[in-house]
Amino acid sequence: MNKKVEEILNKQIELEASSSHHYLAMASWAESVGYGGTADFLYLHSDEERQHMLRLVKFVNERGGKVVIPSLAGGDISFNGLDEVFQSLLEHEVEVTNAINEVVHVCLEQKDYTTHNFMQWYVSEQLEEEALARSILDKLSLIDGNKGGLYLFDRDLANFKVDSIANEPNE
Ligand code: FEO
Repeated sequence: MNKKVEEILNKQIELEASSSHHYLAMASWAESVGYGGTADFLYLHSDEERQHMLRLVKFVNERGGKVVIPSLAGGDISFNGLDEVFQSLLEHEVEVTNAINEVVHVCLEQKDYTTHNFMQWYVSEQLEEEALARSILDKLSLIDGNKGGLYLFDRDLANFKVDSIANEPNE
């Protein structure tokens, strides 16, 4: 496998793993403060990010590259509210999108069209994930801290997970 491509795919493996870890911390916080629907959504999102990491791990191995499994930093993470959680999630997804664009760029530079083709799934996935995060933030903005609104928001967020499962590829 091309060394530059291998290197940037390992960086992406680390970023997907840290996304999973970050969303796990968010889920745990949401659960601890009584937002059960939000916690379910975020636990699932954390699982999805782990799947994103695994797809990359398996791809690099299949192509004869070397995978470096990253170690992850932990810590006591807390948030001031759901707005902060989802703002952080959106910022994280934008960072992932930029990283994926960079992977695609390196693939083209190195003329690795197989990996370029493989990465197209991630390009589409990022479009959906950013749109989802933005739509959740729009809802929170409308609710504007109203307690009844937050109760309904949390209850409804459990339904979002059905959509995101449906968007997973059948591989
Ligand atoms: Fe796998 Fe949401 O980035």
